[in-house]
Amino acid sequence: MKPDLLLIEPMTPDVETKLDAAYQVHRLFEASDPTTFVRQIGKRVRAIVSGGRTGAGNALVDALPALEIIAINGIGTDAVDLAHARARSVRVTTTPDVLTDDVADMAWALLLATARRICTNDRFVRAGHWIGGHPPLGTKVTSKALGIVGLGRVGQAIAHRAAGFDMSISYSNPHPVPGVGYRYAPSLEDLARESDFLIVAASGGPQTRGIINRSVLEALGPTGILINVARGSVIDEPALVAALAEGRLGGAGLDVFAHEPEVSQTLWTMDNVVLQPHQASATVETRHAMADLVLGNLAAHFAGKEPLTPVV
Ligand code: 8YV
Repeated sequence: MKPDLLLIEPMTPDVETKLDAAYQVHRLFEASDPTTFVRQIGKRVRAIVSGGRTGAGNALVDALPALEIIAINGIGTDAVDLAHARARSVRVTTTPDVLTDDVADMAWALLLATARRICTNDRFVRAGHWIGGHPPLGTKVTSKALGIVGLGRVGQAIAHRAAGFDMSISYSNPHPVPGVGYRYAPSLEDLARESDFLIVAASGGPQTRGIINRSVLEALGPTGILINVARGSVIDEPALVAALAEGRLGGAGLDVFAHEPEVSQTLWTMDNVVLQPHQASATVETRHAMADLVLGNLAAHFAGKEPLTPVV
């Protein structure tokens, strides 16, 4: 008997084929009435597979009395209540390391695209405007000051790439990271004030909710550029939109948003903003590596072994 598994959001077809081969997969995203669907199959479900942003809320977890494991296809655990999972003896796994480089690459892609106006200038050429003159100048990146919010694996990979741009690097983190040569900033305001570019790479969750607030944005200032590849919740989004609209912040490159996939339409109209639909880990190679970890974690668990990359 294959274990019953609830798949919360779609994965690539080849990965879903592998899941189908080993599990009785119930696709929540295909259900016209998710509540009735969960009521019908809930008692049998022993595993959940979900994305980092979507996770699994407590109401869903509690509707699955036989649940043993939540395998997250991502590194974020902010959409799963880990304490609740622990209390229910439900294992939780993530896909660390394999997506670090892609997320760091995306941070850099957004930084360069925003500072050098890549997307607006692309639109400028396509609209035939070049014939009539030149677009506004961009912002130099090399040798500037970079601030990184959160110096975990992703933050460190971002810093590593910055070395090629001869940047001075500072960071904020819950505690100084031993052995790194970057300046530890005592507060987010200090970090933002001394940075030309501020990249957010901190985990989501209650401890970081809204920490990039109006005063941090003010400190980054009218020539500063904010990049977010972490979670939309880390930034006070209305304060960000207001700062951009009023010229109190220079620009922003955003892969994540507070209410994805909804994105403030005010941002759509801004030429100093680059928007991505949560693509940081979305490469063929990395999504395969993530899926391999999801499948490996599930296989280990159902073989009675310790999962490969557990957080609970
Ligand atoms: C993924 C993520 O886009 O790692 C995370 O926590 O949010 C992203 O890598 C997501 O998990 C895929 O659904």
